Amino acid sequence: MSDEPTKFLLSERDIPTHWVNLMPDLPGEPLPPLNPATREPAGPADLTPIFPMGLIQQEVSPEPEVEIPEEVREAYKLWRPTPLYRARRLERALDTPARIYYKYEGTSPAGSHKPNTAVAQAYENAQAGVRKLSTETGAGQWGSALAFACTLFGLECEVFMVGSSYDQKPYRRSMMEAWGATVHRSPSDATEAGRSQASHPTGSLGIAISEAVEVAAGDAGTNYALGSVLNHVLLHQTVIGQEAIRQLEQAGDEPDLVIGCVGGGSNFAGIAYPFVRRVLRDGAKTRFLAAEPAACPTLTRGVYRYDFGDTVGMTPLMPMFTLGHDFVPAPVHAGGLRYHGDAPSLCGLVKAGLVEARAYKQNETFDAAVRFARTEGIIPAPEPAHAIKAVLEEAEAAREAGEERVILFGLCGHGNFDLAAYDAYLSGSLEDPEFSEEDMREALERLPDVPVPA
Ligand SMILES: Cc1ncc(COP(=O)(O)O)c(C=O)c1O
Repeated sequence: MSDEPTKFLLSERDIPTHWVNLMPDLPGEPLPPLNPATREPAGPADLTPIFPMGLIQQEVSPEPEVEIPEEVREAYKLWRPTPLYRARRLERALDTPARIYYKYEGTSPAGSHKPNTAVAQAYENAQAGVRKLSTETGAGQWGSALAFACTLFGLECEVFMVGSSYDQKPYRRSMMEAWGATVHRSPSDATEAGRSQASHPTGSLGIAISEAVEVAAGDAGTNYALGSVLNHVLLHQTVIGQEAIRQLEQAGDEPDLVIGCVGGGSNFAGIAYPFVRRVLRDGAKTRFLAAEPAACPTLTRGVYRYDFGDTVGMTPLMPMFTLGHDFVPAPVHAGGLRYHGDAPSLCGLVKAGLVEARAYKQNETFDAAVRFARTEGIIPAPEPAHAIKAVLEEAEAAREAGEERVILFGLCGHGNFDLAAYDAYLSGSLEDPEFSEEDMREALERLPDVPVPA
């Protein structure tokens, strides 16, 4: 056996004590979210009907570090720290001089990065005396993470699951139910928002968010929990990048390039923001690459505008790259990436040129995922398959340039519940749905009339 390590591991004592808040380091004044009715800057008071004060404070925190509550670190011990792998077999198969590392979040009980924020959100809601959390889920990863977290902190959980994923991933629903959650197929007839969208039976994250927000807004004992996009969600995910920094130190490497897939931006921010801060503060020369689906190309084809976070228009307006809040993306298997917008901080970094973005078609991401599975063993979720496709391109570019580049990517979940999608790919029946520029243009006509930020 060689002495070359494959895994870089930390102990439970190394679980970070703080989350990294990139907001105070971002260049320029951040554009505020706007109240959906008055179009005035939204403050903490606008969020109190659906979020507990502990999370609102994290959402607007000006501090560069936010302490992680002891109970949350205690819950993190169930699966954190997560391993960092050196993808030696993949490197050999690609015949690349690049050194490829991946931070694997699939070891969490729900199988993805989502529990990092789910436990933090459930904890703050339990502290505030909330009885139930309502939420949306795309692929079922977020819904299962929240169902798991609610059971740890004694909360009820009600999940609106995007119709296409509900049909494609029945066992994700079983998982949520095993953890005690109630699951609806969205659009559902349990809410006004769902009934108004019955003509879009495949559903979308935007529609499911509208349903979950409506449930929370109508019941004093129920709050809403969001699995991505908002500052506090991105904040919670930064345990990933902080651990990766220490693990790469163990490996004696420094990344030239950090890659992650983007749905709303939370796993990308989680792995990348601690490294972005080093670029902003210390002039480190790291590149960042965000990978998204060609069927829902928010960062690469969307427009930078104020838009709602949900389809029906109940959430604050946020400055972001958007395809239009009522654009319904084709039902690709990477359900967690079917979102019309992205986190405002990430959009700002893309706009400023600090983060590059690329879009990939469904079949090429499954090609990449299968190559990864056949060398490294882990079967990736369809979402990080987008990141893997980008890694393969970059490893090839390193070979062509004859350079020993160091690539770090986020393997943010396993695909053990996505085997119907693998079946479709392996039998040659997986489609590459075209993005409809015309549908986007129509949706953009319905954007709220708020001045475009400079
Ligand atoms: C495995 C996985 N990766 C990525 C995403 C996309 O979300 P985000 O961009 O917030 O990480 C999801 C969302 O459900 C997911 O389940």
